[in-house]
Amino acid sequence: MARKFIVGGNWKMNGNTASIGEIVKFLTAGNLDPNTEVVVGVPAIYLKDVRAQLPCSIGVAAQNCYKVPSGAFTGEISPAMIKDVSCDWVILGHSERRTVFGESDELIAEKVAHALDCGLRVIACIGEKLEEREAGKTEEVVFRQTKALACQIKDWSNVVLAYEPVWAIGTGKTATPEQAQDVHDALRQWLCKNVSKEVADSVRIQYGGSVTAANAKELASKPDIDGFLVGGASLKPDFVTIVNAKC
Ligand code: PGA
Repeated sequence: MARKFIVGGNWKMNGNTASIGEIVKFLTAGNLDPNTEVVVGVPAIYLKDVRAQLPCSIGVAAQNCYKVPSGAFTGEISPAMIKDVSCDWVILGHSERRTVFGESDELIAEKVAHALDCGLRVIACIGEKLEEREAGKTEEVVFRQTKALACQIKDWSNVVLAYEPVWAIGTGKTATPEQAQDVHDALRQWLCKNVSKEVADSVRIQYGGSVTAANAKELASKPDIDGFLVGGASLKPDFVTIVNAKC
């Protein structure tokens, strides 16, 4: 089954009205490969503006949301609110949410389930830390994180998995195409065994961690790498080259 390549830009807590306007310009002007799906992860306060400015062919994602529709949860936003401003996506479980904000596998899985129930599409992030890789625990960690998700997900059709080794995020140390391919392949085998062959074959697995215009093409050539989640480079016109890595 062909999996459509999908590239996400994760702007994190970066930008202001002026600089986001520049990003919107190059996204709108650049020739984006129509065979690649593009989604940008926008700080919550700019979601509505960015959604209004970008063509509908480009998806707009929140970078987080909570696990219930509304209530006394100061500072949080809900999937219902994301939908209310016409955005269809949310990034959940990013390693910065896990490590800086202490989100657990279980909380992330609950958020994913609620976002899916509300009709959002989800980029669910997983990935091991450097000490876990060095201890030979990469598969153990990503399988544990994926299992927590799988316990809550009833329908995988609106889920994209993003494998982002924590040691590669924002460090300039990209996983080699072989390292990334090995983990993606292992994840697909885990999904085949523990969820279904259909899900294993159809779910898209992005790689994230220091993806640049220079390394995207080689990573994209690997059979189980179905796209990227891009941080730093998504703020620059280089992002267009990364989107077009399959061309
Ligand atoms: P990076 O970030 O591309 O800056 O390494 C990736 C991410 O955090 O999604």
